[in-house]
Amino acid sequence: MVGGGEGSFIGAAHRVAARLDDQFELVAGAFSSDPARALASGVAIGLPGERCYGGFEQMVASEAQRQDGAEVVAIVTPNHLHAPVATVCLQHGLDVICEKPLAVSLAEADALVQLAAAQQRLFTVTHTYAGYPAIRHARELVASGALGELRVVQVEYAQDWLATDLEQTGHKQAGWRIDPAQAGPAGALGDIGTHAFHLVGYVGGIAVEQVCAEVHTFVPGRQLDDHVQVMLRLQGGARGMLWASQVASGEHNALRLRLYGSRGAIRFDQEVPDSLWFTPLGEPTQHLRRGALNSPSAAAATRLPPGHPEGWYEALAQLYRDFAELWHARAEARVPPPWALATPQLHDGRQGLAFIDAVLRSHRAGQCWVSLQ
Ligand code: NAI
Repeated sequence: MVGGGEGSFIGAAHRVAARLDDQFELVAGAFSSDPARALASGVAIGLPGERCYGGFEQMVASEAQRQDGAEVVAIVTPNHLHAPVATVCLQHGLDVICEKPLAVSLAEADALVQLAAAQQRLFTVTHTYAGYPAIRHARELVASGALGELRVVQVEYAQDWLATDLEQTGHKQAGWRIDPAQAGPAGALGDIGTHAFHLVGYVGGIAVEQVCAEVHTFVPGRQLDDHVQVMLRLQGGARGMLWASQVASGEHNALRLRLYGSRGAIRFDQEVPDSLWFTPLGEPTQHLRRGALNSPSAAAATRLPPGHPEGWYEALAQLYRDFAELWHARAEARVPPPWALATPQLHDGRQGLAFIDAVLRSHRAGQCWVSLQ
């Protein structure tokens, strides 16, 4: 693991997710940019001191020398380090599980795509919400034609934790997220807009081709956006809107998706993740709950009997389970099952950067339509 030291957020969640299905063992880490903190962080979770490294280059080089060296890396640092760390890991033959956004520029993302292909490595980008059974079921429902021709896509990711200048209080996670040197050129756009964007393509099965966007900063003095609103033109003529905001008072993790087709619609609310609502045109709305989500990929992403709530940890764990299945399939020279291939991969991460790039170009050009590259 690179990142995920004491006081950090997502690294600990990755450690839980990796263990949930008994497919991974944490063997080494470079947990912090501060060597003393890196050592203390690793020892505190039971790693031997010699495998708690002061830097990621040292970790990769040392692990490569060991018989029992690490085989997979989880990159859970702030955004600006994703590509540099992934590059070194790929060069040393490690498979990669990396946080989003994949990189801080489209050029960096493209370079990773080339390198991973040349090295023939597995590469997952942890768009966590793609691990929910309800989302996988929705994806299969759309692919089955149950909605007819897709016409309208509405997606929003609304939070309120940056409604004040939290970054001025020493808050660790807020601090780097509004610093372009660490977050990249996008604030809320990169942090949560990329999740919303990913869900559109993941569930809808069609690509966003053009965007017309306004990027805005509400909190005075903040260097990056905390709010973005984007109109979408999608493959095949569908239209949509994406709204991502970290200043939406009263909202916590309100990631909501609605898709409307010529024969029906679906609705998903991340804060009620065991549920999916499906309305065939002219018929009553069906409230599908986990247990009734019987598509193969939803069933493969379910652990507990219906009625025992599953949630965000399980969704992240699903991406680890998918990855493990892909890893074993490669080792055994067999074709992996479709449910494992449903995991978000390097291309999805690259498209997130294409989205950021297009939104910023659109905004800077005066909110006009631009194509994704
Ligand atoms: P954080 O600030 O809580 O943790 C970052 C960690 O990286 C810290 O332990 C820090 O010491 C470490 N770090 C910094 N520089 C390092 C270096 N040179 N070498 C080794 N470690 C270093 O940040 P948070 O919130 O955990 O976010 C980390 C990443 O996860 C971000 O890219 C973020 O976008 C992503 N994220 C994804 C989520 C999801 O739903 N998939 C949710 C939250 C965050």
